[in-house]
Amino acid sequence: MNAPPKASQTAFRHRNLLGIADLSADDISLILDLSDAYAQTNRERRKKSDLLDGRTVINLFFENSTRTRTSFELAARRLSADVINMTVETSSIKKGETLLDTAITLNAMHPDVLVVRHPESGAVKLLSEKVNCAVINGGDGAHEHPTQALLDAVTIRRRKGRLQGLTVAICGDIQHSRVARSNIYLLQTMGARVRVVAPPTLMPPQVERLGVEAFWDMEKGLADCDIVMMLRLQTERMQGSYVPSIREYFRFFGLDYHKLSVAKPDALIMHPGPMNRGVEIDSEVADDFGRSAIQEQVEMGVAVRMACLDLLTRNLAEADAA
Ligand code: NCD
Repeated sequence: MNAPPKASQTAFRHRNLLGIADLSADDISLILDLSDAYAQTNRERRKKSDLLDGRTVINLFFENSTRTRTSFELAARRLSADVINMTVETSSIKKGETLLDTAITLNAMHPDVLVVRHPESGAVKLLSEKVNCAVINGGDGAHEHPTQALLDAVTIRRRKGRLQGLTVAICGDIQHSRVARSNIYLLQTMGARVRVVAPPTLMPPQVERLGVEAFWDMEKGLADCDIVMMLRLQTERMQGSYVPSIREYFRFFGLDYHKLSVAKPDALIMHPGPMNRGVEIDSEVADDFGRSAIQEQVEMGVAVRMACLDLLTRNLAEADAA
């Protein structure tokens, strides 16, 4: 067993992690620093600590997920917690139980942390008000996906040494993306400039009110940027058709070397996954190990989730002691 990395003295005074919008720059730096330390231990042969020994983490997923659920599960196991995975197929939701009934039932089993993903914006917050354990938002509708933005930030900081002053272009289906929203909040709080690039049908109305610069053209949006963050077309959240055809979408908005050529020569390519190759990103660009940080994002995902479980359960320990 390893000794877990120590968080700095700055306290993380949140019971839940529901969204980046609730966090200050100090909160974010605290999580990023601790994640960096976990990223280090995750590269060692012995990756495990007993920090969460005796704790129970429930992954409650009302939406499909491979990497986020696996990543939370691995993070909890590396800290020696007991982990239960519940997906909508195996739960009673199909039998007509409501979200809140499920929450109350699970709460009665005394979990320490609930990780919840739900297709409706706001559902995770609602659930957090009905339980007395810590709740982590694993993605709620098109609202927030805080651990994704945190893992993106750790990845950027490791590659570029900072967030402050960087220009980040988030491209594609902004309208339906919780990843875009959480990243916009985080990057701006940490002093980066954010651009969003999308066709008008996939751009939220009045997006400038979030403090970002909006572009409808990849060449203009990517000019001189430090980071290019691509998003999946989230068809499961679309009613009707938002793009004329996949072919045309790729031609105008798919990331290829030609479009990338206007960005800084060392611009980093990112994607939260799952990727649609040939739709929003060209396969060759996605697999360009020199420039693409996509695999590192997955690696940092585990470290960030370990840091979040660590910080939230420390608060539980303090509450137990009080
Ligand atoms: C993202 C999500 O679920 O919001 N994926 C993820 O967490 N790895 C983005 C997406 O589904 O496109």
